[in-house]
Amino acid sequence: MAEHIYIEAPAKVNLFLDIKGKRDDGYHEIQTVMHLIDLKDEIRISLRDEGIRVRCSEPFIPQGSENLAYKAAAIFSEKCGIRKGVEIYIDKKIPAGAGLGGGSSDAAAVLKGLNNLLACNVPHEELALWAAEIGSDVPFFIWERTALAEGRGELISPLKRENLLHMLLVKPDFSVSTPEAYRNFKKEEVKMSRDLKAFLAAWENYDIISIAENMINVLEMPVIKLYPEIAGIKDDLKRAGALNALMSGSGSAVFGIFREEKEALRAYSFLQGKYPLVKVVTSYIRGDE
Ligand code: C5P
Repeated sequence: MAEHIYIEAPAKVNLFLDIKGKRDDGYHEIQTVMHLIDLKDEIRISLRDEGIRVRCSEPFIPQGSENLAYKAAAIFSEKCGIRKGVEIYIDKKIPAGAGLGGGSSDAAAVLKGLNNLLACNVPHEELALWAAEIGSDVPFFIWERTALAEGRGELISPLKRENLLHMLLVKPDFSVSTPEAYRNFKKEEVKMSRDLKAFLAAWENYDIISIAENMINVLEMPVIKLYPEIAGIKDDLKRAGALNALMSGSGSAVFGIFREEKEALRAYSFLQGKYPLVKVVTSYIRGDE
C-alpha cells in the first residue's frame, strides 16, 4: 500500500444562486449552480501511527478539529474503522472566506484521497453522504462536475454538459462569514428576476451571452449592504469588459465572465494591483484520478 497520496482540491464559483426560503433547521433552501475553476489547493495525505494532524501553508487557517479537512479525516476513519493516524498538509492557494469553497473542497479531497490511499472502495454516492455531514458545499466537490445543488446545497444533480468559461477573479482584502451573509438575507428585498430554467437552457446551448445575462446571486444584496466595495468590484469588472460580474457564494470574491481569454487578460491588465488577488481563471477539468 502507498504511504502517501497527492490530490488537488479545486475552487468553485456559483454561477446562479437563489434562496427559496428559510427552513426549520436554520438552513436556507437554495438552488445554485456550481462550477469548478482552475485555482486549487494541493494536498498531501499520509498515514501516521495515530491521531489526525493538519498543517497548512497559511498559518492563520485553523489546524484543529474546526478545520473541514480534519473533520473529513475523522469521519472517514470512523466510518471505515481505520486505526492508523492521518497527516494532512494543505498547500493553500484558494483564499478563505471568499465564497470559493476552499475548505469544502479540501474536505472532499481528503475523503477521496483516503479512499484511494487505503483502497477502501467506498462509492461516490456514499462519500457524498458523509460529505454532507461535514458541510453543505462538500458533496459537490465529491462529484467534481458542474451541477445544480438544491436542499441546503447538498443535493447534487450534475448538468449534462461541461462548458469552458473565461473569467477574471477578484478577491478584496476582507472576508465574509457565510452565516452572517445568510442572516442578512431578506426574501422581500430581492428585486432582481431569477430564472433558473433560462440559465440552464443557456448552459445547455453554450450561449455565453445568455449565460452571462442569467447569472444571479441573491446573497449579493445583503452582503453589499455590509461591504459596499463588492458593488465597486462588479462595476470595475464590467467597465473592464466583462459580459457580467457576480459575487461567488457568500463572497467576498467576485468574478467577471468574458467571451474569450484575451478579453479576460486585457481586464487583468486594468485591475491587477488594485486588489490583493486578481487572477485570470478558466474552468477546472480534472485529469485522471
Ligand atoms: O453547511 P455549512 O456548515 O457550510 O453552513 C454554514 C452556515 O451557513 C450555516 O450554519 C448557516 O448559517 C448558513 N447556511 C444556510 N443555508 C444554507 C447553507 C448554509 O443558512 N443552505
